[in-house]
This record gives sequence, C-alpha cells and structure tokens, in this order.
Amino acid sequence: MVGLDLERAGQVSTEVQRVLRKLGVEPEVVRRAGIVCFEGEMNIVLYTPGGRIILLVYDDRVELIFSDQGPGIPDIELARQPGYSTAPDWARELGFGSGMGLPNMEANADRLEIRSRLGEGTVIRATFFRRRDEA
Ligand SMILES: Nc1ncnc2c1ncn2[C@@H]1O[C@H](COP(=O)(O)OP(=O)(O)OP(=O)(O)O)[C@@H](O)[C@H]1O
Ligand SMILES: [Mg+2]
Repeated sequence: MVGLDLERAGQVSTEVQRVLRKLGVEPEVVRRAGIVCFEGEMNIVLYTPGGRIILLVYDDRVELIFSDQGPGIPDIELARQPGYSTAPDWARELGFGSGMGLPNMEANADRLEIRSRLGEGTVIRATFFRRRDEA
C-alpha cells in the first residue's frame, strides 16, 4: 500500500472484511476488524510513504498487523489520546484529523500494541478474540 494514495484508501478494509466473511469469521469480529483496518490504513496513507497490512486468521483470534516505513510516532501515549492530531490542513479539509483513529482502533480491538521508532516506522498489532462458543 502506498502513502498518500487517497483514491484507493479504504480498499484494504473492504477486502479484509470480504475475506473474513468468506472464511466464516463471526460478523461482530468482521465488523470490528473492518473499522480498525480502515483507521490503520488511513493513517498509513496520511502519515507515511507506504506500508503493509497483514491479516492473520486463527481458530481463536484474528490479527491485523500494520507496518510502515514512516516517520514514527514521537509520543505514543499522546497519540493515543482522543483529539490529538498532527493531520495537515489538506487532510482536515477532507474530513480527517479528528484525532479519533487510534482511540477508535483501541475501542474496537481486544488488544492494540503500538511500537514505533523515530525515522524508521511504526508497527501496530490489533487482536480480535473469536467467541465462537457464544455465537
Ligand atoms: N502510522 C503512523 N505514523 C506516524 N504517525 C502516526 C501514524 N498513525 C498515527 N500517527 C500520529 O498519531 C496522530 C493521531 O492519530 P489518529 O488516527 O488517532 O488521529 P488522526 O489521524 O490525526 O485523525 P483521524 O484518525 O480522526 O482522522 C496522528 O495525527 C499522527 O500524528
Ligand atoms: Mg487517523
């Protein structure tokens, strides 16, 4: 996936939802993974020159791993705060930059790990537990 490619932004989350549905993953996991994937891919598009999104499907959980070669996140605690954003004006004009992407990822994943190195990039792992016996 290539940074700043707004035309195609959103395609990964659509594809992820399609694949998860096809594999018979529970609808509530599909829904939450779709939301998390959309926010993650938007951040890669807006803040980095490019990155990868890996989808892993296990019997007991689904994982989404976002990795990019962007500038990194200087203060992860701050970036996780609702309302914190460094989105440029052109992105704000398109409706981004509420500073709700990472909080939204946190709210919709069962676990969200963020690792980042300045000048090297960022890796985010989102885990969704499958509650198949409660379905
Ligand atoms: N992959 C990334 N690489 C570098 N910085 C990032 C990355 N993801 C997020 N950030 C930083 O964290 C901030 C908060 O991200 P978050 O997704 O919560 O909000 P936003 O993208 O600014 O606005 P919104 O997602 O609501 O449109 C961003 O403004 C940016 O500074
Ligand atoms: Mg965002």
